[in-house]
Amino acid sequence: MEYCVVLPAAGQGKRMRAGKNKQFLELRGEPLIVHTIRQFELDPWCKQVILVANGQEIQAMKELAKTFQLSKVTSVVEGGEERQYSVKNGIDSLKDDSIVLVHDGARPFITIDVIHRLVEKAKEIGAVTVAVPVKDTIKKVTSQKVVKTLNREELWSIQTPQAFKLAVIKEAHQKAEEAKMLGTDDASLVEWNGHVVGIVEGEYQNIKITTPDDMLFAEAILKEREMRKDD
Ligand code: CTP
Ligand code: MG
Repeated sequence: MEYCVVLPAAGQGKRMRAGKNKQFLELRGEPLIVHTIRQFELDPWCKQVILVANGQEIQAMKELAKTFQLSKVTSVVEGGEERQYSVKNGIDSLKDDSIVLVHDGARPFITIDVIHRLVEKAKEIGAVTVAVPVKDTIKKVTSQKVVKTLNREELWSIQTPQAFKLAVIKEAHQKAEEAKMLGTDDASLVEWNGHVVGIVEGEYQNIKITTPDDMLFAEAILKEREMRKDD
């Protein structure tokens, strides 16, 4: 079952406080974005990777693709001020009508098993996100006071990838732009546009590298995967 993936990597990485876009930070000698792209290079279902980069980093991203022989990166398109605009630029560059995945460039630990379950469900229902059950109790707080304790049984942490039929996500992004609606993820635009979004239960290791602590967790995950490979 074939799909294309849009990888937004055009952020600033401010919370990482590295003085540069976190996508270029190295894990085991390879930039973070290379780790993420590699997961899709290894998946036979993935036919095309659209990388979204800051205008001034497009050349550097193209060079990375060449250096690390990432042959599925067919184009590097320019991002926007917000993640949503970066994703839209990526999606608008796609023409054929297969399933499209949107996946954060900063989530290098996505596995083929999760991707495949996601793609299969997207083919069926049109829009799906990866999610994991929340571990903490979540409370609604206003002015430093608890307003309500939410029912944990009903709460899920939403990750990427999110998978869509191309027409479904294109329409949602187009309408959101017209209405000046800004969502924190792509599935929320699809929901807002009146389409059902399904979930596929993913893995807690699919973290988004966001703060310096996450680099420590990333090292631990890499080590564990290496050990598992040797078994
Ligand atoms: N992203 C993007 N375009 C933007 C903002 C974010 O393509 N205008 C990408 C990031 O590069 C990242 C993903 O969206 O891969 C998730 O965003 P986030 O983790 O928030 O990364 P940054 O925005 O780079 O980090 P920060 O918010 O700490 O500045
Ligand atoms: Mg951000």
